[in-house]
Amino acid sequence: MRRFQAVILAAGLGTRMRSNLPKVLHEICGKPMITLVLDALEAAGAERIIAVVGHRAELVEESVGSRVTCVLQEEQKGTGHAVMQAKDELSGYEGTVVVAAGDAAYLRESDLRSLVDHHQKTKASATILSAVLQNPSGYGRLARDTSGRIQRIVEEKDCSPEEAMIKEVNSSVYCFEKSDLFDALSSITPDNIQGEYYLTDVIEVMIRKGLRVEAVVSDDPLTAQGINTRVQLAEAERVFRDRIRERLMLSGVTMVDPLTTFVDFDVEIGQDTIILPFTVIRGKTVIGENCTIGPFARITDSKVSDGATISDAVVIEAEIGEGAQVGPYSYLRRGTVLAERAKIGAFVEVKKSIVGKGSKVPHQTYLGDAIVGEGVNIGAGTITCNYDGFRKYPTTISDRVFVGSNTNFVAPVTIGKGAYVAAGSTITEDVPEGALGIARKKQKNIHGWAEKRLKEGSKSGPRDD
Ligand code: UD1
Ligand code: CA
Repeated sequence: MRRFQAVILAAGLGTRMRSNLPKVLHEICGKPMITLVLDALEAAGAERIIAVVGHRAELVEESVGSRVTCVLQEEQKGTGHAVMQAKDELSGYEGTVVVAAGDAAYLRESDLRSLVDHHQKTKASATILSAVLQNPSGYGRLARDTSGRIQRIVEEKDCSPEEAMIKEVNSSVYCFEKSDLFDALSSITPDNIQGEYYLTDVIEVMIRKGLRVEAVVSDDPLTAQGINTRVQLAEAERVFRDRIRERLMLSGVTMVDPLTTFVDFDVEIGQDTIILPFTVIRGKTVIGENCTIGPFARITDSKVSDGATISDAVVIEAEIGEGAQVGPYSYLRRGTVLAERAKIGAFVEVKKSIVGKGSKVPHQTYLGDAIVGEGVNIGAGTITCNYDGFRKYPTTISDRVFVGSNTNFVAPVTIGKGAYVAAGSTITEDVPEGALGIARKKQKNIHGWAEKRLKEGSKSGPRDD
C-alpha cells in the first residue's frame, strides 16, 4: 500500500530568475510552477502536502490556498535547512516523506509512483529520483562506487573535475523515511562553497550510518530539470505547450498551425472544433464542438458553446452561445453573455451585457450594462451611455426592437417590445412597447444657400489656401 506525505520546497529567492515574484509562482501555460508539482504529488496520492515558504511567503500561500499546509523558513539557508522547518508539522507522522523542489515543474505522477514503490519495496531510508543528462551542468551529480552503489550527491560547485563528468544528476525529488531524514538533517553542516545546509548532504550521512540509499532513474531527462532561469522557463512553456496541443489534436481538435496556437493547461476544446492560426486560449476557457476559432482570437476564462465562430476578437470572461458569431475586430469583456445565434460584428465592444437569441449588433457599437432581448437589431454606431462619471446605469432593449444607426442610449433607459428607435436619436426617456422613439432635431433645408455663399465668397477676393 503506497502511503506518503510530502514536502515542497518553495522558500528560495530564485535569484537566477531576476524577479520580484517568487520563482515558484512564475507561470507555465497558465499554471504557477508550484501548482504543477502539487498536481503531480496529489495525483500520485500524497496524503498531505507541506510547503516550505519564505521569500514573499504570503504570495505563495495565497496561490497554493488550502491544498497545502505552509511553514515558514525565515532565512533561506539552503534546501536542507528548508526541510528542517517541516519537522514540527510532521511530528505526528511516521513513514514515507516525499521531498520535492518547488521548481521541479516536469515532475510526473508516473515517476513519483515508481519512486515511492521502489523506496517502499526496497525498505530504503532514502531514494533519489535521478536522470541522465547529456549536459549535466548546473545539477548535483550522483556519485556511485565501482559496484554502482550510491555514495553521495555532489553539488556542481563542489565537484572535482572527475565528478563533474558524471551524467547522472539529482532531480531534487526524493523519498525518505521520516525519522532517518530528520536524524540525518541534524548532522549536516553548511561547510561547502555556498555556505548552505544542503539537503543533498543527508545522503552521505545516511550511507556512513549504514542506511540503505536507492535511486530510481527516470526515463525522461527533463525530470531532472529545475526551472532556474527565464530561459528554462520558456523552454518548459514550449515543452508543455506542445503536450497540450498534442493532447487536444488527438482528441479531435484541428489546429491549422499548431506553432501559432497557444493553449493553457486547463482549457477544454470539443471535437471537430477548428483553431485557426495566431490564436491564444487561456485560463479556464471551455470551447464546445464544431466551433471555428481564429485567426487572431484571444480568449480568456470564457465559455464558448457548440458551433460558435470567433475571429479576430478579444474575449474575456464571456459566454458565447450556440452558433453565435463574433468578429472580426470585436472586444467582449467581462460579463458578456451572448445567447444562441447572436451576432457581434466589426468594431463592437460589449461589457457586462446580455444579448438575446438571434440578436444582431453588427457594426461599431458599444454596449455596456445592457440587456438586449431576442431578435433585436442594433444599428451601426449605437452607444449605451452607461456612465455618468460616478455610477453605471443599465439599458434595457426588449425583444424585437429595431435600433436605427447612431443612437445614443442615455442610461438608465428601457425600450419596450417591438419598438423602433429612429437613427441618430439620443434617447433619454423610455420608449413604450410598439412606439417609435425619435429624439433628434428636425431637418430644415435652406433653399439657394449654396449659391448665396458662392457670391459672398467671390466678393471677398481669392481664397487663401
Ligand atoms: C537543487 C539540488 C541539486 C539538484 C537540483 C535539481 C540542493 C543543494 N541541490 O539545486 O542537487 O540537481 O536542485 O533541480 O538541494 N529552497 C528553499 N529554501 C532554501 C533554498 C532553496 O525553500 O533555503 C527551495 C527553492 O525555492 C527551490 C528548491 O528549494 O524551489 C531548490 O532550490 P534551488 O536553489 O533551485 O536548488 P538548485 O541549485 O537548483
Ligand atoms: Ca533548482
